[in-house]
Amino acid sequence: MRVGWIQTLPLFGDPAANLSAVAATLDDATTTGRAADLWVLPELFATGYVFADRDEARRNCEPVPGGPTVRGLVALARRTGCAIVAGVAESAPDGRLFNSAVAVDGAGLRAHYRKAHVFGDERRWASPGDLPFPVVEIAGARVGIMICFDWRFPETARTLALAGAQVIAHPSNLVLPHCPDAMVTRALENGVFTVTCDRVGTEERAGMRAAFIGRSRVIGPDGVVLSEGPPDRTAWGTVDITPSRADDKRLSGGNDILADRRTDLYRL
Ligand code: ACM
Repeated sequence: MRVGWIQTLPLFGDPAANLSAVAATLDDATTTGRAADLWVLPELFATGYVFADRDEARRNCEPVPGGPTVRGLVALARRTGCAIVAGVAESAPDGRLFNSAVAVDGAGLRAHYRKAHVFGDERRWASPGDLPFPVVEIAGARVGIMICFDWRFPETARTLALAGAQVIAHPSNLVLPHCPDAMVTRALENGVFTVTCDRVGTEERAGMRAAFIGRSRVIGPDGVVLSEGPPDRTAWGTVDITPSRADDKRLSGGNDILADRRTDLYRL
């Protein structure tokens, strides 16, 4: 199986242009024989990140799965024969807004997640996620989904690993410098592949500023970095992985990183 990341520089508030940029990269990858089975895109890839206020966020949010971005992603997945995990700004039927992610393939929407750990100024518009951390069989692997700041809460990746995820897809808009290294630990402590897809550039709006650090990363269950993006420019990358490697949680000395947990002592 081949996984890929597309580190973008979204045009704020222009979902059609941002989707077209992704489509152009997928076509480029296909033409050059480097098409992935599973692509991960950044958090909020279609809209940009810093909404001036809740009204502006609402204007940029769309229903899942009925909105144009999810429909566009499904069409892209169908045309290119891949699966995609991407961050989308979601308006729920009850009026709440969520920083969400979807997994799609040619069959349509396969998983839907709402960011559990809402970060900083996002709390001005996004409600905390209320859906379980999803694991879906897609593109030849069991794929779990978390979004950006979820990395700071190890329970997130652990929950996905315990639910059987072999690959954690991690759409991100990273602003803190620690995440790329922390994801080595998330991969290692859970024995899973992780695909963090970040964006680059800065957004400065309504007195808020976010500078994004790039450095998208694919990491193996042994903590080895298999692919990495630059800190300061758009890029994309792919790498071949064997998802079943994540099913073996044993260490060479006879330990097992999930079975040896001391759930009798933990107070979670
Ligand atoms: C973040 O969660 N986008 C930092």
